[in-house]
Amino acid sequence: MPVYLDHNATSPIRPEARDAMLKAMAVGGNPSSVHGAGRCARTLFENARQTIARAIGARSQDVTFTSGGTESNNLAIAAAQTCPDVKRIIVSVLEHDAAFMGAQATGLPIEVIPALPSGVIDLQWLRDRLAGWNRAADGRPFVCLQAVTSETGVIQPVDEAGAMIRAADGLLLVDAVQTLGKTGFHFGRSGAHYASISGHKVGGPQGTGALIVSCDSPCDLPRRGGGQEKGRRSGTENVPGACGFAAAIEAALRDEAQYSALSVLRDKAENAIRASALHAIVIGGDAPRTPNCLAIAIPGWDGGMQVIALDLAGVCISAGSACSSGKSTAPRPWTAIVGEDLARCAIRVSLGWNTTEADIDHFINAWTREYARVAPRLKEIA
Ligand SMILES: Cc1ncc(COP(=O)(O)O)c(C=O)c1O
Repeated sequence: MPVYLDHNATSPIRPEARDAMLKAMAVGGNPSSVHGAGRCARTLFENARQTIARAIGARSQDVTFTSGGTESNNLAIAAAQTCPDVKRIIVSVLEHDAAFMGAQATGLPIEVIPALPSGVIDLQWLRDRLAGWNRAADGRPFVCLQAVTSETGVIQPVDEAGAMIRAADGLLLVDAVQTLGKTGFHFGRSGAHYASISGHKVGGPQGTGALIVSCDSPCDLPRRGGGQEKGRRSGTENVPGACGFAAAIEAALRDEAQYSALSVLRDKAENAIRASALHAIVIGGDAPRTPNCLAIAIPGWDGGMQVIALDLAGVCISAGSACSSGKSTAPRPWTAIVGEDLARCAIRVSLGWNTTEADIDHFINAWTREYARVAPRLKEIA
């Protein structure tokens, strides 16, 4: 079995999630059916909704099940657009394509919040922009922000942004995909109107997620089918998926202390790389980060080449988010923080619920061996 250190792309399914899915599959039944099997499926589904709502600090009725973070972001953007007063969208440069391109696809004018060299969004830019907002010309502010940046693990100041945006009577979508089960993000306290979460980032099944919508948010989405999920997301509900997602998040919350301790293993990897490559740069290293994530650039050594070398050595890491790996350009967030040249030389190592010290030792040995092989040939970026 390879050593798997790409949890920010997908965290392997937790046994609790698999068990819950098998149990739900054994029940069968369509939650909209009135017979016993249907009622049983409905109970499982609504219990899952309650668990997820509790985990994110929302009410059950705020939760709409979706197929994942991408659909949730797009649904939230569509929901905000049902407010006729939304005429432009502000997104941070650090957003995942799920929000960045979703905003672009609306055809509305887009304004981009820059990132500071620390990897944190430039909150002052947002403050100034909102201070100069012209309601008549610009409409109601609508802002999309990630709670945690997928490529760096940097925790973004979404609560502070939320207070500012609420004060300006704006709308806020928080992409909470990488914060769920990691940083204690609380929807109710954040000031967010919408939040997106995804099951497979916490050890739940792929293809599951949810959109959270507060009761004071525009969400007059057209009904496109049977009207499930209060008409917001038609289609027969994914009962096993929802149960697996809920079981995964329950396990993640139970194991919170263990998760926090991952920073020890992450720092061990970081220190080992720095000890070999003195010029290595940790992207977002000076900002508050989730305990599981390390983004590190080795000037002159292409990130994609590092991923391939490590893969051959039996270690799975990435050179950016799964959606941007395989592309010839470096991920937008890294480029925004450290520039294109360094961004191309970066890797992301992301740990998770089943990472052990032996995994990290294996990674360190493999990485150090590969680095020793290529180091004499590296042409460093000035
Ligand atoms: C911050 C963020 N938002 C959204 C997504 C997309 O989520 P999903 O894969 O569930 O569509 C990801 C996936 O990497 C992500 O990291």
